[in-house]
Amino acid sequence: MSTIDSSHPTIDGRHFRHVAGHLASGVTIITTADDDGRFGATASSVTSLSADPAMMIVCLNNATPSANAVSRTGKYAINVLGEGHSELAYRFASPSSDKFAGVAVREGLQGVPLLEDALAHIECEVVDRIIGGTHTIFVGRVISADVADGQPLTYFRGGFGRFAQARDEAVYRTVRGLVLTRHYQPEDVVTVAELATALDAEEPSVFYALTRLAGDGLVRRELGGGYLVLPFDIRSSDATFDARLLIELGVLEQVVGSIPDSAIAELRRDFEKMASLLVDDHFVDFDSYLEANYKFHEGLISLAENPLLTSVFEGLAIKQVMTRSFGATSESSQFFVDVQRQIMDAIEAGDKAAAQDAARTYSSIAKARAREVLALSGGAV
Ligand SMILES: Cc1cc2nc3c(=O)[nH]c(=O)nc-3n(C[C@H](O)[C@H](O)[C@H](O)COP(=O)(O)O)c2cc1C
Repeated sequence: MSTIDSSHPTIDGRHFRHVAGHLASGVTIITTADDDGRFGATASSVTSLSADPAMMIVCLNNATPSANAVSRTGKYAINVLGEGHSELAYRFASPSSDKFAGVAVREGLQGVPLLEDALAHIECEVVDRIIGGTHTIFVGRVISADVADGQPLTYFRGGFGRFAQARDEAVYRTVRGLVLTRHYQPEDVVTVAELATALDAEEPSVFYALTRLAGDGLVRRELGGGYLVLPFDIRSSDATFDARLLIELGVLEQVVGSIPDSAIAELRRDFEKMASLLVDDHFVDFDSYLEANYKFHEGLISLAENPLLTSVFEGLAIKQVMTRSFGATSESSQFFVDVQRQIMDAIEAGDKAAAQDAARTYSSIAKARAREVLALSGGAV
């Protein structure tokens, strides 16, 4: 039984879900079966508990058919999903009587369905149950376990993603740097094999880097398998800043005046961090400013608590756009910080119109600055 100490404050539910969403996890499907049929629920609250004896825990919402089924049957299997399984994860995340249709399964030792394509299977018999709020923690003794090759599906802040090895990240940064510094020119075609040799890196890491750069809009995959380095021009720059403005105007329209204090305080902290990195019309350190600026605007957009919108913003690759334009010189203008301060102040004051006006001004000076820098390089870089 959980006990609640009523002398402590109760945290706001929305804020708690937002914060808890920062704990990145793998994604599993918990399966079980009895005479009533097969059950399966997408679950991320799964962890190993003990090695000897081998034990796992899964936390399931008591209101779901799957939790009731595990309670009844006293057995479950944990199917760890691979990076290509987000469709499956969605399918098993909402109630349906037809979840297993077309899904390849085999029976485990206890007659529980095991998803053939899962990255790992862990079969358990329930040895203990603990109620925690709305959920039950099912403590399972492991009776079998196996793994396949592959990369895991991950879950972070309401969205699915892939696991990036630190070395993949390093190769991505190197290749991105080579493109941004024009070591590779627009219209050059690079291949995974050539780059892997040139960088003394593994081909999967280079493939990861190029796939991500394609998502950033810096290269495009060609039919022959190579990657074309794309030119960056005023049109792409304007389109990116316009898209960010439209998202921000919509978010400000919806949230200003009803944002929890804790979220405003977090945004203010992000703003001050950014402000400290642009002093006397110069970037103290461009990369850090860029990160802080991105975090501030991402934080603003996250106020809408809509993960789809946040991922659309991520997809704009605004950091790349800024690197290609503003990043060409350490000179900037204090006005960038002043205008963003106006956005921040207006959000705090609950003044929607002022926040939107400042967002419009910020976007137009960013576009103008990008044009200036691009013009110096002949209109495209
Ligand atoms: C990424 C992700 C993780 C989830 N993790 C859990 C979890 O750990 N426990 C849980 O009870 N529900 C979790 N859910 C919600 C269940 O998948 C959802 O309630 C589902 O409808 C349960 O299946 P059922 O209704 O057929 O029982 C998660 C959903 C998603 C998308």
